[in-house]
Amino acid sequence: MLLVATTNPGKLREIEGILHGLPIALVTLRDFPGVAEPEETGATFAENARLKALYYAAATRLPSVADDSGLEIDALDGAPGVHSARWHGTDYAWKFQKIHERLRARGVSTSPARFVCHVALADGGRIVHEASGVVEGRISDEPRGTNGFGYDPIFFYPPFGCTLAELDSERKSQVSHRGKAFAALRQYLEANGGRIAG
Ligand code: IMP
Repeated sequence: MLLVATTNPGKLREIEGILHGLPIALVTLRDFPGVAEPEETGATFAENARLKALYYAAATRLPSVADDSGLEIDALDGAPGVHSARWHGTDYAWKFQKIHERLRARGVSTSPARFVCHVALADGGRIVHEASGVVEGRISDEPRGTNGFGYDPIFFYPPFGCTLAELDSERKSQVSHRGKAFAALRQYLEANGGRIAG
């Protein structure tokens, strides 16, 4: 049994899609309503992913996988980065306005940007597997698309000529930061034949 330890429904949908069909039963935090969220005090995606995985594994006594992810915008010195979830609140229309406003203040209308995801798997009090994934793109002038979650509507992916919010979750996962990091986790789990710690 493996706990997919995220409270973000958008992430959970994608992760369940990527791990679908593994010979391991997946449980989610919905199965552990009494477990509170840990504070994400890390300075990097990797530190936050590790602390979440270790925390949930200790709290549930199950092997637990957690990811930490976010958007880095070059013209904003890498912001919002590890603060992506709460940067200027949780209303994305407002967050998009703030991004465009900050870009204009720097004299640009767009910027190269990337989504980064770090995945950590904890079992028996230690991290037994980690992987990262990145997808490179740029900030679009205006939001487009209604799929996905978070910053997807303003993340333009040049190879497909559209934003990530214009892709279905399977197509997004083929190229996304989370898709890459969790594909590596999937390989690890397949190679370990269900014995998580190997
Ligand atoms: P975390 O839950 O602390 O890892 O925060 C992740 C935050 O980064 C999310 O709440 C979104 O704001 C942003 N983010 C991460 N991955 C994605 C993605 O695939 N699409 C859009 N936004 C994302």
